[in-house]
Amino acid sequence: MLTLSVIKADIGGYVGHTNIHPDLLEKAQEMLAKAKSQRLLIDFHATHVGDDLQLIMTHERGDEDEKVHKLAFDIFMACTEVARGLKLYGAGQDLLSEAFSGNVRGMGPGVAEMTFEERPSEPVIVFMADKTSAGAWNFPLYKMFADPFNTAGLVISDSLHQGFAFEIQDVKGHKKITLNGPEEIYDMLMFLGAPSRYAVKRVMSRSNNDIAAVSSTERLAEVAGRYVGKDDPVCVVRCQGNFPAVGEVLEPFALPFTVEGWMRGSHNGPLMPVGFKQATPSRFDGPPRVIAAGFQIANGKLVGPRDMFDDPSFDGARQQANVIADYLRQHGPFEPHRLPLDEMEYTTMSGIMRKLGNRFSDL
Ligand code: 13P
Ligand code: 13P
Ligand code: MG
Ligand code: MG
Repeated sequence: MLTLSVIKADIGGYVGHTNIHPDLLEKAQEMLAKAKSQRLLIDFHATHVGDDLQLIMTHERGDEDEKVHKLAFDIFMACTEVARGLKLYGAGQDLLSEAFSGNVRGMGPGVAEMTFEERPSEPVIVFMADKTSAGAWNFPLYKMFADPFNTAGLVISDSLHQGFAFEIQDVKGHKKITLNGPEEIYDMLMFLGAPSRYAVKRVMSRSNNDIAAVSSTERLAEVAGRYVGKDDPVCVVRCQGNFPAVGEVLEPFALPFTVEGWMRGSHNGPLMPVGFKQATPSRFDGPPRVIAAGFQIANGKLVGPRDMFDDPSFDGARQQANVIADYLRQHGPFEPHRLPLDEMEYTTMSGIMRKLGNRFSDL
């Protein structure tokens, strides 16, 4: 069995929260190469989306392996040291509570891992997003695995026709439920349509129970009873065969759907699909971005990546995202651009209420 682990953290931004410094990637690559030479890893690829460092690793040690996770943690610690040397913004942001960047939420790396028998051909896509949160994958995962208007294979391919099972986490209630498409999609959508509370953790094929997709939601669920907010999440999707085709997996991103997490983690904005070079959210620290790294896995080797959104067929989505961004920005501090009061990462409300509370009188 092969394990594909994607572990990510923001350990310092360059400049501000817009990008990562090349020295961090270099440090990560050096340490990953050493782990590969010691045979802990079969292969790796290090990359970034915005200010989030992404470690994509293959090995044979299964999910939640202590050594692989320790390697990732050591890399994030070493990169934090590099970031401190350059005084990068929010050095160690996702690791150390004392590294305050004005953002009190988010203190651990994000993880998406799956273990499977490598098929004769194994195309996978690793989606990585910045300036948003785990629930951002609800919409595209639903489209890929449950919507026949997105995925033709659900209708016309025997191997997909039985549908897919969705494991959904209640990130506030610290519970999970598995619901089956297509028969339970109306129930399912009641949850998936509320992505700040419910997030799809994994999707399984119902023809053979094989893992189809996994996303990074652990942190949200780990902290029982406490919502920990915008995680700049990752999602891994296997393609073709018993799963949607590559083009069906990419198709949901042709709509720049609205996600939370823009500017100070406190605003809604369109999720813009971009090529690797444009993974640098700058305007109002955004708009939120998603990149797609495609790989063929061959005996554990990561053949790739292919930059899947570096394609003119996504120009329309980018253009539409800019139109939506203009429209939302003009709302300034008003909802629905600004998040509802209890969802914002930043707020001055308690101070304002201390000051003004006694000036409120009964209606
Ligand atoms: P193959 O028959 O080559 O697998 O392609 C089917 C497909 O999914 C193309 O969209
Ligand atoms: P990150 O979560 O990507 O660090 O962004 C923080 C932020 O608030 C940007 O405005
Ligand atoms: Mg940051
Ligand atoms: Mg980020």
